[in-house]
Parts: sequence; structure tokens; C-alpha cells
Amino acid sequence: MRNMKLLVLSDLHVTTGAPIHGRDPVTWLTRAVDHIVRCHAGADRCLIVGDLAHHGRVAEYRALKAALERLPMPYGLTLGNHDDRGHFLSVFGSDFADETGFVQSVIDIGTYRCLLVDTHRPGSGAGSLDNGRLERLEAMIAGADRPCLLFMHHPPIDTCLPAFETIGLIDRPAFAAMLAAHRDTVAGIFFGHCHMPINGTIEGIPAFGVRSPVYQSLPDFDRPRFLAGPDLLPAYSLVIETGSGLAIHAIEFGYSGSITASD
Ligand SMILES: [Fe+2]
Ligand SMILES: [Fe+2]
Repeated sequence: MRNMKLLVLSDLHVTTGAPIHGRDPVTWLTRAVDHIVRCHAGADRCLIVGDLAHHGRVAEYRALKAALERLPMPYGLTLGNHDDRGHFLSVFGSDFADETGFVQSVIDIGTYRCLLVDTHRPGSGAGSLDNGRLERLEAMIAGADRPCLLFMHHPPIDTCLPAFETIGLIDRPAFAAMLAAHRDTVAGIFFGHCHMPINGTIEGIPAFGVRSPVYQSLPDFDRPRFLAGPDLLPAYSLVIETGSGLAIHAIEFGYSGSITASD
């Protein structure tokens, strides 16, 4: 069996022309796709963990779908707080949703089971696993015959940043309790929402923040402010199954400065 190779993107914030924090989202998403086509066309899947469209509009999802058509591998999607579930499904169709209507799916790749988890909570910046989502997720993890990787928008860890106290995962304590019972099965969690390189652990399970290919943030540990820095480098993540675990790289595709090499 060939080892798994995944691309993970988050926080595309696609618009139909309006710049977000000084950047045109479609321009930067297109640059990311160009880089993927050039450098990682052989990856098994591209998984995108929410904030797909900045205003959740139908026209934004159409623009997103057009931009993703050039990806050489299949892709999977789930939603973030900026998204609109109904508008998303009207453009992408029910293939991206489970039988309960949430935008989440299960994909087996290599020796791993990848679970895309929909934490979107309509009308809120916060995320949730309500309406049976947490129980359903636990049942899928409990029934898995291989290690699971979770992919979700809202951070499962306590970021220690005031900005995320009101827009975090509301049921994070219950989520943590569920993970504690399944830490032998859940091998890792990938999340977005923060727009910065933030990693951590929850109940002994590693969790990795995925940077945005559009705009980045900086941590403010003192005030509940979400900072944005247009000149910080955008990135997507590359996840490689090594045989003894995972190697995870941030691919800074937007860097255009000088590069030197030593032998
Ligand atoms: Fe975002
Ligand atoms: Fe978000």
C-alpha cells in the first residue's frame, strides 16, 4: 500500500472580487492551486477545513468551485463560521454532506481514516458539534478499524488567545471527554480558523493548525483582538505518512524573495 500524502488548506475566504485584509482571496487561492499542480500533483487528496466563502454567498461558492477544478486530485470540504450550509450545498451538491445534511465525510487513505467534521453553527462565529454531531462522530471513531485523523474548522485545543474565547468550539469540554476515551484511535486533528501556525495537544492527541493561503493572523495574548498581517506568508499544509507516523510541512507557496542553498 502506498503511503498517504495529503494537502490540507483552510480559510480560503473566497469573495467575488472584494479584497480581505488587503488580499484578493481568489488570486491567492489560484496561486496555491498553481503551486499544488506544479509541486504536489501526486497527493492523494486535498482537504479544505472551512471558511470556504467569506460571506457564504452562492456566487462565492461558484467562484470557489471554479478555482478548485484545476486540482489534479479529488478534494474534500467542510465548513467554517463564515460559510452558509444551504448555499454551499446548492453549489457543491449533497455528495459533500452526510445523511444528516452536515458537510462532513469519511475518506480512507493509506492506513488512515480521515474524518471531515462540520463544526459550523449558523449565525455564529463559534463552532459546535450539537444536534447529534458529537455522538455520531464518537460512533464513527469507536467503529473504526484503523487510526483516525480529524479535520475540522474550529480549534479543538485551548489556544490561550482571548480572541477565540467567544468564537471557539462551544462544546470543547465534551469533545475533549470523547477524545479521552478514544486516544488510541485518534492519531491527530487538523484545524483552521486561527490563520496562524498554532499547534498543541488535547488529551494527548496532537492537533495542528493549518494556515490560510490568503491572509495570516498574529497572536494577541492580552486583548480579544483578531490581528491580520497582509504581508505574512500564506501557506497550506502537506501531510505525509512516513511508515512510523506523519511528517507535516507548512508550504509557503507565496514566498518570492531570494533563496540560497548549501551543499
Ligand atoms: Fe477564517
Ligand atoms: Fe473561522
